[in-house]
Formats: sequence, structure tokens, C-alpha cells
Amino acid sequence: MKGKILVVDDDNIIIRSCKGVLEPMGYDVSGTINPREALELIRDNDYDLLITDMIMPGIDGFELIKRTKELKPDTTVIAMTGYSIKETIKDTLEYGIMDYLQKPFSPNILADTVDRVTNLARKLKSQLAITEEDDVDGTHKIEAVNALIKQYKTVPGSLITVLSKTQEIIGYLPPAIQRLIAKGLRIPVSEVHSVVSFYPCYTMKVRGRHNIRVCIGAACYAKKADSIVQKLCNHLHFDEDNVTDDKKFSYELVRCLGACASAPVIEVDHDTHGTVDPDKITEILKDYN
Ligand code: FES
Repeated sequence: MKGKILVVDDDNIIIRSCKGVLEPMGYDVSGTINPREALELIRDNDYDLLITDMIMPGIDGFELIKRTKELKPDTTVIAMTGYSIKETIKDTLEYGIMDYLQKPFSPNILADTVDRVTNLARKLKSQLAITEEDDVDGTHKIEAVNALIKQYKTVPGSLITVLSKTQEIIGYLPPAIQRLIAKGLRIPVSEVHSVVSFYPCYTMKVRGRHNIRVCIGAACYAKKADSIVQKLCNHLHFDEDNVTDDKKFSYELVRCLGACASAPVIEVDHDTHGTVDPDKITEILKDYN
């Protein structure tokens, strides 16, 4: 089975047409002309995809999608509309719709759109799912993050606080954790991701117990900051995420640490070291256990 789909349209012919095209492709398709019944089905089942008409009597498509996202935030949605696509896109972007079918649509367009959207959604879900690489070192940390989300979920504008405290607990903010926070605070993952990407204080990469920030800004570069990086990499073996095997140290390159007069500069955790002699880097690191 390629995926479980619910089609909602007040016109039974559309539902039958969708079934006729999608079932032979390997999809399990259910349909209803009643949006209220659709909400019950969504509550009781796990659909991979909701295909819904936007203009329906009673609960319209917008309301149905909104309530679906409240019940099952991960449900992927394709909107069917007979109206201008541009207008619909403008009005519904924030509802988390992944694609559109403008009526009347051909069986080929339906088949292509559904295949493309379900594949993309699968890819996104696996990217954002908790993987072994994302393993955040013990369920107790996840529990602590869940408790944090519970504490702040009714506090408006608490995203920054939750992100900062989560990073203190876990050490970084991988996609899986961003997704957990988005779900808990009932905000789009994209909003969480933009904040994490915007503020340099947040990191999406795992860090060692001690994080070394090597400045390669103009002043430091002129004073051979590249030799520091070279010595560091010769002395410690970093993996592709710039973390040592024992997870003791990680390093990252930054543009300016605001201490140009003392170039070249590095920071280890919250300690700033100025006028660093690349040959003395091991001595500096000796103090960090
Ligand atoms: S350029 Fe290195 S501290 Fe400013």
C-alpha cells in the first residue's frame, strides 16, 4: 500500500474519480461528502494525505484543514479548488497545504500530484524524524524537553525561551527536536527553523562537551587563524560534524568574536583566549576535561 488517503468533496463524482485513479496505483482511498464525518475519520485513522475541496456547505475546506491540523498536525493536505490558484495560494499558505488541484483536473494530473506530494511528505518526515544520528542521548532528555513544552505551551511568545532551555538540556537543536517543539507549541516547523537558523546562539549540529570557536574574521585571519585550525585538526581527530570521537571537543569557525584587538582569538565554551599561539593550542585545551 502506497499510502492512506481521504478525499472530501460534496460532489460524489469527484470522490469516485479519485478512487478510480488512485486505487489501481496502490493507494488506500476513502471518501466522504460530509466534512463533519471527515473529521471523525481523521480522528480515528492515520491518513497520509487529505485531499479536500475548499468550497463545501457547513464546514468549508479552510476550516476542515485547520481542524485536521489540530487533530493530526502531520497530515499532508492537497486542496481542490475551482477558483483562481493564485488567490487560493495567497489565502491558504498558512494552513500548511502542500499542493493544489485546480478543477477540472485530468487523471494524469491527479496521479502525478498525489505521487509527488506523498513522496515529498515522506522525505520530509524522515528528515525530521528522530533518527539514530539525531539520538539525543537518552529518553530522559526528551522527557525534560516535553516537560518544558508543557510548561510553556500556553505562554505567548515563549519560543525563544523554549529553544534556549532545550539547547541547554540537549546541547543542540536537531530537526527532530525542532519538530517536537513546533508540535508542542502548535506553531509551524518552518517558524521554529527560521528562528534557529537566524540566531547564531542556536546550533543544529551536535557539539562536544567543550565547544571551540575559532575566529577566522579579517583581523584574526591576518594573524594566521588558519594555522590554529590546522594545529587543532592535527591534534584532535574530528569527524564530519567537527566533533571528536569521545565527544569531548567540537569546533566551529566564526566570523568575529568581537575581540579583534587580541587577534587571533578563540573561544572555548564561554572563555575567550586572545593572541593565541597556534603551537600552544594543546596547552589551552589541557584545562578542559
Ligand atoms: S576578527 Fe577575530 S575577533 Fe574580530
